[in-house]
Formats: sequence, C-alpha cells, structure tokens
Amino acid sequence: MKIAVLPGDGIGPEIVAQAVRVLQALGPKFDLEEAPVGGAAYDVAGHPLPPATLELAKKADAILFGAVGDWKYDTLARELRPEQAILGLRKHLELFANFRPAICYPELTAASSLKPEIIGGLDILIVRELNGDIYFGQPRGIRTSELPLFKGAREGYDTMHYSEPEVERIGRVAFEAALKRGKKVCSVDKANVLETSQLWREVMIRVSKDYPDVELSHMYVDNAAMQLVKAPKAFDVVVTGNLFGDILSDEAAMLTGSIGMLPSASLDKNNKGLYEPSHGSAPDIAGKGVANPLATILSAAMMLRYSLGMALEADRIEKAVQKVLAQGLRTADIYTEGTQKVSTVQMGDAVVAALA
Ligand code: IPM
Ligand code: MN
Repeated sequence: MKIAVLPGDGIGPEIVAQAVRVLQALGPKFDLEEAPVGGAAYDVAGHPLPPATLELAKKADAILFGAVGDWKYDTLARELRPEQAILGLRKHLELFANFRPAICYPELTAASSLKPEIIGGLDILIVRELNGDIYFGQPRGIRTSELPLFKGAREGYDTMHYSEPEVERIGRVAFEAALKRGKKVCSVDKANVLETSQLWREVMIRVSKDYPDVELSHMYVDNAAMQLVKAPKAFDVVVTGNLFGDILSDEAAMLTGSIGMLPSASLDKNNKGLYEPSHGSAPDIAGKGVANPLATILSAAMMLRYSLGMALEADRIEKAVQKVLAQGLRTADIYTEGTQKVSTVQMGDAVVAALA
C-alpha cells in the first residue's frame, strides 16, 4: 500500500517522522514516499503544491500530511502561500469530508482550561465540509467599492455558496457517522442571516428523513460556539460548512486540553483520504524537539482504519498512545505537575515501545 508522506513546514517534519516510525514498527510493509509541500515545496520548486507532489498524492492510497505555513511566506502572493497546498490537495482530490474528533483523554482532563466535570469523557466529532463555501466561492477579489458611503475605496469580497448536492453529501457522511456513535447530529449554520444556510438547513432536514434513528438538531453558529464551552458533552456529531467548521473545530480541539492531541481525516467519496493533525505548523517551536507528535500518530491510526482497511492496527496504535499517557509521559503542551516531560522523539520512542 502506497502512502504519500508530506511533512511540510514548521513542526511538520518532526511530528511526521514519529508517525512514520510508528507505521514502520507495525510490521506490514508500507510503501512510503515523501514529497515536499507548502513553504518547503515553494523553497525547492517555486510552488507550494508542485505537480510531482500532487501526482504522488493522486496515485497513493492515502496521504500522511504534517502541517504547512510559516510567517516568512506571509508576503508571498496568495496563490504561492503554503496554505494553498492543503487547500489545493483538498480540492484536486475532492476530499470533501473532514472528520475532526475532539476526545478528552481521562489522563489529560487537567490539561484543559475547562472544569473537569465539563470536559471529562468528552467525545464529539466535528464533520466539516471541505470543498465548498466561502473558501472556494467565486467571485472573489479586491476591487473598487461601489457603496455610496465608501465609493472609490478598495474593498475585499468573497462569495459564500453551497449547492444542494454538496450539502446532501456531507449531510449523509454526518448521519452515517452518527449511526456508529451517539445517533445525534447537530447541524450548525447561520440560517437567520444567510441564504446559503437557509438552503443548508432545508437539505439537512430532507436528508435526515433517510436516518430515522438519528436525531437532528440545528444551531446557529454563534450559539454553537457558546454551547461548545458551556456544555460540550451535549453534542455527538456536529456537521457544518467549511468556514464555520474551521473555527468550531479549533475551539472543540482546545476543550480537550491540547490541540496537539487531535487527529483528522479528509475523505473523498471512496474513502481515499488525507490524514493530518488538527493543529498547524507552529513555527515558533519548530526544530526544538518539543512538539507533540501524538495528533499525527493518531492521524496515522485513522488512515489505517478509514483508507487502508486495517482497523486492528489502528486500534493497536490508539491503545499504545493511551498507554504512554497512562505512563505519565507528556510533551510540553500537555504537561501538568506530577507528570514526566518528554521530547518529540522520546514520545515517538514511547509509542513504538508500547506497540510491542
Ligand atoms: C485547517 C487550517 C486550514 C483551513 C488553513 C491552513 C488553510 O486552518 O485545516 O483548519 O483553514 O482549512
Ligand atoms: Mn483551521
């Protein structure tokens, strides 16, 4: 099985290296092929998603992705910025369904900024649409304003839109996921203001008819942001669009104590997927050996489960991660008093050892 390994920028290479070690320690031989992506690709090939990298991603059975982005690329034209690599991969490979679980491991309850009774045992899943919305809508750009009050001034504009089939396919993904979990879907929108959301809500209601065993509720995004910190355990599956999902998944991730723990999967309609930690490239700590590799290691587990049909191996990795947490090993982001602080590589060592 061919896995494209795209480490990217910042802490990407350090954390991906640990996930690769864990995969190799599993025994079965994976055909791992690495390629540059993001700023690292811009540096060597002049583009964040060079054709060779995209080709590799297309022909692989799954993609293990680190992170992209660094301040030093902030002045580049938008189409050359590192972020375009991940956006391009999602779009070119039609990876429309993004799974972002937010699980609070019992050992890490103290690392959360919320009270233990609010987040203890938290296990929710954000299903974010990834191919549409204001992220990709046309027209977009910077133009001269026609608004009477601001006529002649520069104005930026973007377009939010969702077609019915786009909403329907992500809706079905969410309902199917809910069937295997707590059988609740909360669809998050802004239907009190946006037509896009009005249509989104209509389609979700229609799709829900095919899933009588799943309870559908709706929430405006502002309220959802509040409920996520107030009573996160009331949620099971949250389904939402690209922009709201981007924001809410960062919020949900932080409930668990550290975004450094959370994996994600971005799937196409055939379950081919790209797997990456939910966090970014953290250039401020890059190269220091302190980054938490667990989100990437857990992303590799998701890859085995969703794209490679290797659920048993996925379980093994997840159990190994739980074991090292139970042993009290912590990278800096999840360190609390009384635990043992370890480096990125030491955490990888511990997971590999726990697999045995
Ligand atoms: C994410 C990231 C990306 C996004 C950026 C890097 C384009 O924030 O995966 O959540 O906005 O989708
Ligand atoms: Mn984001």
